[in-house]
Amino acid sequence: MRLFLLVLTSVLCGTSVALDNGLMRTPPMGWLAWERFRCDIDCYNDPKNCISETLFTDMADRLAEDGWRELGYVYVNIDDCWSSMERDQQGRLQADPKRFPMGIRNLSQYMHARGLKLGIYGDMGSHTCGGYPGTPLDKIELDAQTFADWEVDMFKFDGCYSNASEQEKGYPLMSKALNATGHPIAYSCSWPAYQGGLPPKVNYTQLGKICNLWRNYGDIQDSWGSVLSIVDWFFDNQDVLAPAAGPGRWNDPDMLIVGDFGLSLDQSQTQMSLWAIMAAPLFMSNDLRTISADARRILQNKVLIGINQDPLGIQGRRIVKEKYGIEVFWRPLQNNVSALVFFSRRSDMPYRYHTSLKKLNYATGNYKLFDAFTSRTTLVKDATDFVVSVNPSGVVTFLVSAPATINRRQFYNGGKLHGPSFEDAEENSLPPVFL
Ligand code: GLA
Repeated sequence: MRLFLLVLTSVLCGTSVALDNGLMRTPPMGWLAWERFRCDIDCYNDPKNCISETLFTDMADRLAEDGWRELGYVYVNIDDCWSSMERDQQGRLQADPKRFPMGIRNLSQYMHARGLKLGIYGDMGSHTCGGYPGTPLDKIELDAQTFADWEVDMFKFDGCYSNASEQEKGYPLMSKALNATGHPIAYSCSWPAYQGGLPPKVNYTQLGKICNLWRNYGDIQDSWGSVLSIVDWFFDNQDVLAPAAGPGRWNDPDMLIVGDFGLSLDQSQTQMSLWAIMAAPLFMSNDLRTISADARRILQNKVLIGINQDPLGIQGRRIVKEKYGIEVFWRPLQNNVSALVFFSRRSDMPYRYHTSLKKLNYATGNYKLFDAFTSRTTLVKDATDFVVSVNPSGVVTFLVSAPATINRRQFYNGGKLHGPSFEDAEENSLPPVFL
């Protein structure tokens, strides 16, 4: 009953209207250049890593050929430092001609030919954060039309070099201008991050009507400390943030840094699990050409992706915060399934956490716990005590369902994963109790 009420509250709170462009009914997934490749424009000395069309076509090739696209990772997003320092003679933004010789339109066609999408970046102000030409109020319609002419699929509108009153005009105006082009362009707003991320300065009802996703908080860096500060802020403010999310409108805690240099394996599993709980956009910022098998396995974990992509789009919450550093997160999913993440902030040894589903607010009944990382299944009653062993800065992540009502195939289909054959091979290797 308590669980039912929690689900009902989450659903009811999540019914405000989303931006009516029909896009991003589940959180977007893909790759974004910024965290890993920043504003490296030195193509002479660093041709493989500089911000150039080669970087984006390389990543597109990896997404298309290494199994990412079929799992839903379809966006290839350009961030700052792509443009020329000057607008063209008609006043339009233009790509740096040396680094993007084939131009953005051709780049988007390259993506589309491979079943991928192209995202681009701009800034609601005089300059981008990296000092490139911005999109002040009087250029909004022109720039929206330029992106539509280039057949771009997503636009991130940053907020450097603009003040609060300009942002209040500019962000809604860009939403209108993008819609008016008639070309579907998903809209990512950095506006709340520039206004502290919280009401009264930030109006999440309005954001849900004009943007598909929004950055609420500071930039992620390649470190565990950075991931932790983001996790803390998002879950400390979950009562404000969770109701703002839903199909077509997502909080964005920033990129996945799994596969980079700053996270251990356990910490990588933690980032992926908590981003799944948060219904966060899954934009990897890593080098897909050299990524390790371990990092790839975490990012391609179908159970975690299925949790992230659940069609109800309810953002999960922290439901337990033990003084000794163990936390539990919960997200309701369709078909009476839910996800549980046990996280340890401790730094001593794997912590053996004793609990039961009853203690975690589950209703009376029989349940199946499916471990997203080990694929192990445990059958429990609500009142059965069980122990999870959680590594320092790591997680244990469970899919919780009634024993007989769901199998892996149904879960994936519900999660809208596509691709012809990934289910069957795996399903056959599952322990019988799961099927
Ligand atoms: C801001 C944004 C980042 C990135 C940089 C680019 O800091 O928050 O995500 O886009 O600008 O300069």
